[in-house]
Amino acid sequence: TVLVVDFGAQYAQLIARRVRECHVYSEIVPSTMPVSELLARRPKAIILSGGPSSVYAEGAPRVPAELFAAGVPIFGICYGFQAMAQALGGTVAKTGVAEFGRTPLRVTTEGVLFAGLPAEQTVWMSHGDSVATAPEGFTVTASTEATPVAAMEAPERGLYGVQFHPEVLHTEHGTAVLKRFLDAAGCRPTWTMLNIVEDAVEKVRETIGPKGRAICGLSGGVDSAVAAAIVQRAIGDRLTCVFVDHGLLRKGEAEQVERDFVAATGVKLRVVDAADRFLKALAGVTDPEAKRKIIGREFIRVFEDEQRAIIAAADAPVDFLVQGTLYPDVVESGGGTGTANIKSHHNVGGLPDDLKFTLVEPLRTMFKDEVRRAGEELGLPPAMVWRQPFPGPGLAIRIVGEVTRERLDILREADAIAREELSRAGLDREIWQCPVVLLADVRSVGVQGDERTYGHPIVLRPVTSEDAMTADWARVPYDVLERISTRITNEVREVNRVVLDVTSKPPGTIEWE
Ligand code: XMP
Repeated sequence: TVLVVDFGAQYAQLIARRVRECHVYSEIVPSTMPVSELLARRPKAIILSGGPSSVYAEGAPRVPAELFAAGVPIFGICYGFQAMAQALGGTVAKTGVAEFGRTPLRVTTEGVLFAGLPAEQTVWMSHGDSVATAPEGFTVTASTEATPVAAMEAPERGLYGVQFHPEVLHTEHGTAVLKRFLDAAGCRPTWTMLNIVEDAVEKVRETIGPKGRAICGLSGGVDSAVAAAIVQRAIGDRLTCVFVDHGLLRKGEAEQVERDFVAATGVKLRVVDAADRFLKALAGVTDPEAKRKIIGREFIRVFEDEQRAIIAAADAPVDFLVQGTLYPDVVESGGGTGTANIKSHHNVGGLPDDLKFTLVEPLRTMFKDEVRRAGEELGLPPAMVWRQPFPGPGLAIRIVGEVTRERLDILREADAIAREELSRAGLDREIWQCPVVLLADVRSVGVQGDERTYGHPIVLRPVTSEDAMTADWARVPYDVLERISTRITNEVREVNRVVLDVTSKPPGTIEWE
């Protein structure tokens, strides 16, 4: 394991992902973790991440000098680099020149980190303070115009540091630099998808034991599907999956779960067709938050009923509940130590008070892209593995107005056409997601054939995004938009107008409700 010590910037997760891309397992630990505890984990190497503080700031996290004498190879990045320099007797100073963004770097000595790499390269910088003098015994290997000590190393002690961010893609040879560190630290590239899946299966087997039973809620999304497939491999029929079909999924998605997923994994599945119940509860409701609350509440009720039925039917106790918690959730909730971290997300259901479960979270160490690759490894249907983000409340929050069965049918058809054409145009990876929205309470005049129509508009909302926190409207080629528009107005009788949403987020959210 390579431990990434998180000094509180957003870069730690990125570093861990890059290390894993080099096929070396990596975990993130908080900078408050005592040195003894860090070392007790027997890391092969340690990476000190960047951070927002100045090493001179009050309460700035420090790195005790003893860590550097422990014999574990250490790579300091940005703040971690400065903390290393300071702890070992170098000096860090405010040069008055901050560097942000792409910066030319001059390699003066190839050493270990830059072996075989060009002498001139572009790196990504983000810092105010700089290392003014390297600690004794270190070789300075690179500089920039504003930063005389932009990289340093003491290979015989296993210590390396760079001021720039090798984990950021704008750093031309960032991954190569990281790889050279990992190689020098003796980290072998053994972390492959097959190993990841096998490890996860083995861990679940240990947790649940030879007799234990588990329940898992499937949502149609990739996380719960991969989690369930892993647990199925581990314990077979002692896992029961529950799929609550709330009738608000897109065309073909319920079949994907009921048929394709079951065929691919052999999972034991109970399907609850609860569409009527959800529609009844949603009758007359137009407020988006009210819709969400109702759907969440109904979901938990149905799921609890199923749990009780499964427990009643089982000849042995059902002690485990499977959840698709991902590594970023674990890191962000300050976990990583195995504390229960229950998402209140209605997709998986809250834990009912009178039912006590131990959580099984086979994706706790995985990033989203790893979950997808694990899904491929497990042979899940590609449409499920590569599904773009889709909200738990489903199409209910894409009908502006009351949700009815007829309106859902209209939206489902229009959405299926838009998805099909976007896929056909090869835009699935480029586009983060494309909500298709029915303005159910709006009508406009049209002419179709020789007849005047009075139909509803459909809104296309294709966006690009990194994390859904911000987004931009996607520049979908006109001919693709034209095909979508023509097909929807031809094939979906109730729709006579297709409009494009060209708002970024902020100010608009991705969904319309
Ligand atoms: P907004 O509309 O807030 O959406 O820009 C950001 C991301 O979250 C998804 N989303 C939801 N997901 N339950 C969910 O599980 C919800 O109630 C919900 N609302 C929005 C949305 O699709 C986008 O990916």
